[in-house]
Amino acid sequence: MSRRNKITIVGAGNVGATAAHWAAQKHLGDIVLVDIAQGVPQGKALDLAEASPVMGFDLKIVGTNGYDETADSDVVVITAGVPRKKDPVTGKFTSRDELVEINRKIVGGVTREIASRSPNAVLICVSNPLDAMCHVMHAESGFPKERVIGMAGVLDTARYKYFLSEALNVSVDDIHGMVLGGHGDTMVPLPSHTSVAGIPLTELLPQDKIDAIIQRTRGGGGEIVGLLGYSGYYAPAAATVAMVESIVRDRKRVLPCAALLGGEYGYKDLFIGVPCVLGKGGVEKIIEMKLGDKEKGMLEVSANAVRELVALLPYGKGQAT
Ligand code: NAI
Ligand code: 2OP
Repeated sequence: MSRRNKITIVGAGNVGATAAHWAAQKHLGDIVLVDIAQGVPQGKALDLAEASPVMGFDLKIVGTNGYDETADSDVVVITAGVPRKKDPVTGKFTSRDELVEINRKIVGGVTREIASRSPNAVLICVSNPLDAMCHVMHAESGFPKERVIGMAGVLDTARYKYFLSEALNVSVDDIHGMVLGGHGDTMVPLPSHTSVAGIPLTELLPQDKIDAIIQRTRGGGGEIVGLLGYSGYYAPAAATVAMVESIVRDRKRVLPCAALLGGEYGYKDLFIGVPCVLGKGGVEKIIEMKLGDKEKGMLEVSANAVRELVALLPYGKGQAT
């Protein structure tokens, strides 16, 4: 009898619980939700499991404050950490950079617990600052680089595509494009590689409108924080589940993910968002696309922003080749 896929999600907060919801709805596998908050992962798992007769998924969904039930997971998503928040007094948002110290300790501890019980899992990092936390997960797990992947590019690309579909009044399905680089204000949307059903974007929208959408995409996370007072979770969870699905179903989708580069795009030992083929083995291939000088320059700015955070960690190298 074949065994169902097992998916662990650490952090049963907004992103983690919403990812569990959509993973269940897509029948991706049994789900273990882990959180330090007493009763929260248990309560959310039970609530979700009670939806199964209505939604029609036959899955085991459990919540726990420990790690023993996560053993032998196929995919582990780590969302544990402190999210960006708006200070009610100053109105200032927590920057991704400010999160590095606190989330490094949380993500490091969680990774060690997971790695010792699921040595063959593919790890997906969601916690911010994303690219830096991928370095933490890679170093603390000791896993090969193919099995440590960061979620950001799928989310940033989804925001970019949504804004374009709105501006052009066309279906989101017909917008093709990608956002590369680090998950921050320096991310790199690629309008010259964006098309609408194969028609170059640059033939359909004037440059000033494209530039405005690029800026809105770069500030997409902050725009939601500005509205809610905390960060978004529907789109981040959907993006995470797209990656989980490609891995557990071995779909080999080409998705922009943070991957540890080994010379691709001219970078070595640095996690940054690039097009990846995701399958059972995790990152099965990094696709190197031709970039123009302007795009290469933007990627370098983004890589430098990631390097600054990685330099705060006790392990990262992030040297250019
Ligand atoms: P949240 O606050 O709703 O959930 C975080 C959960 O982590 C909480 O339930 C908390 O109890 C739990 N937690 C904290 N320490 C833990 C530990 N040591 N072990 C287990 N659980 C622990 O936050 P939300 O909105 O779900 O965001 C989670 C993380 O994901 C944040 O770092 C946020 O910035 C990041 N994020 C990243 C995105 C991306 O594109 N990569 C998009 C959206 C959020
Ligand atoms: C986002 O982009 C906060 O990184 C998070 O929504």
